[in-house]
Amino acid sequence: MQTPARAPRVLLATLVVILAALACAERPRPGVGGAPPAAGRGAVASAEPVATGAGLAILRAGGNAADAAVAVALALAVVQPQAGNLGGGGFAVVRIAGVTAALDFRETAPAAAHRRMFVGADGQPIPEGSLVGPLAAGTPGSMAGLHALQRRFGRLPWGRVVGPAISLARDGFVVTGRLHDAIVEERDHLARFPESAVVWLPGGAPLAAGTRLRLPELAATLEAYAQGGPEALAGGAVAAAIETAVRRHGGVLSAADLAAYRPVWRDPLRARAFGWEIAAMPLPSSGGIILAQSLMILEARGWDRRSPGGVDRAHLMIEAWRRAFADRYLLGDPGWTRAGPAELLDPRWTARRAASIETENATPSAAVGPWPDDAGPPPVPGRRGAGETTHLSTADGEGGFVALTTTLNGWFGCALSVPGAGFFLNNEMDDFTTIPDRPNYFGLVQGEANEVRALARPLSSMTPTIAWRGDETIVLGSPGGSRIPTATMQVLLAMLIDGAAAQAAIDRPRLHHQWRPDETRYEKDALTPDLRAALEKRGHRLVEATGGIGEVHVVRARGAVLEAAADGRGPGGSGVAAGR
Ligand code: DON
Repeated sequence: MQTPARAPRVLLATLVVILAALACAERPRPGVGGAPPAAGRGAVASAEPVATGAGLAILRAGGNAADAAVAVALALAVVQPQAGNLGGGGFAVVRIAGVTAALDFRETAPAAAHRRMFVGADGQPIPEGSLVGPLAAGTPGSMAGLHALQRRFGRLPWGRVVGPAISLARDGFVVTGRLHDAIVEERDHLARFPESAVVWLPGGAPLAAGTRLRLPELAATLEAYAQGGPEALAGGAVAAAIETAVRRHGGVLSAADLAAYRPVWRDPLRARAFGWEIAAMPLPSSGGIILAQSLMILEARGWDRRSPGGVDRAHLMIEAWRRAFADRYLLGDPGWTRAGPAELLDPRWTARRAASIETENATPSAAVGPWPDDAGPPPVPGRRGAGETTHLSTADGEGGFVALTTTLNGWFGCALSVPGAGFFLNNEMDDFTTIPDRPNYFGLVQGEANEVRALARPLSSMTPTIAWRGDETIVLGSPGGSRIPTATMQVLLAMLIDGAAAQAAIDRPRLHHQWRPDETRYEKDALTPDLRAALEKRGHRLVEATGGIGEVHVVRARGAVLEAAADGRGPGGSGVAAGR
């Protein structure tokens, strides 16, 4: 992900909003780079204007926040296929009609997966084994998951909610600069699979921005989905097509895996911080635990009473993340995790973590082990934080809210687009601990609890979150791999503590620390020279972030007034918020 210059980003985002408004009969009002939309009947924030427009159309047709969220997610599966998906998975946190729920539609390891599947005969990692090609693919959860969300909480007929995505795939959409750039970036991987190249690299060249693209295979898949739900795909020709393509390229995912996949409704991770109630994702995401633990540590250290933009706030935040990410080492699929919220969010533990922060000195990560302070692995340098995931937030003006984050993991997942299905398979297997103590794609050093096990779900960092106090509700989340919880938390804190408007909270430059490597990444403009010097004096190693930290899309309700705001940090600054 790039860090675009701020002024052009806002201008571009505003322009995109205006274009979206013209293109969309729903007339979305801008929520980026300007005043928040004074909406009362619904709001959507997502990474693409067309997807936000699909959500508004569904709200206008009488749909609620769940109907809109599913329509946006499916539209993203068409127009932003590098992240939006049917072949990946994700999480949703829902608050509708007084019910708060968390849906886990994370991928599972196929039945044939095993602990050493990414280790070669020489004991070395199979090069790119967990990243490129279908061996990297977990059993997709999105087909069953989006349907489960709409079925439990939506109110429109299922086919109506799938409708906008079918139209986009069948009638065509305009390839965005963001999609073009992603194809260019992943050109070599896509070119390895003729099935992918024929669509995305026609004649060997990346599809140009501005091209009108029709995806008839995906349209047919979506039509079958609209008529027969996930069973029509997981038990039919689409599943057979997936198994054939996977086998051809050395993967193990089978039609039986697809038929056996079930999303899981889980108790949301609940926390209370700074007077707000928070509902976030429990395991197999680490995101909610990291968010809640860091917020509890900050509250214990009086973070809200330190001056905004001052060294104490930055220092405490980095130190809280260092500790929360150290504890992440213990986490994995709920069936295998060595710790969970009961231990890590126990106020005695968070108080101990808070007390271990030195006021004037950074604690070296090597001195911070995971609970209960085992030695932990040696430090290893991390790789860049890139890839693609997409977050969307919706509200319906009747007290309904959805935060949904979905991913293929890397751009276009494993890079294999399945003929006969028309969509990409994920490379989520890389989120497992594929090789002990080696950082994964996001530089995360993970533990034994997250080893590859048949049918287990890989540990995630995705953090779809809903926070509320009185008649105020905030819905947010982000892509960004390991940067997701830290990006989400900074936007949340700006609103909770400093009373920032959603757009202003999003626009604040961000920091990131993840325990290992022991360095603080900062966005350009996040640190003044004085602040940088003050942090370095306390022993923090500072490195400018190679891309923006997250891409946070927010909707917020204050009484009957809805506010929606989108993040322009994504490639091309294409995030769009709109209300009605
Ligand atoms: O679940 C996870 O934590 C990762 N697979 C998310 C990947 C991601 O956010 C890439 N995006 N920017």
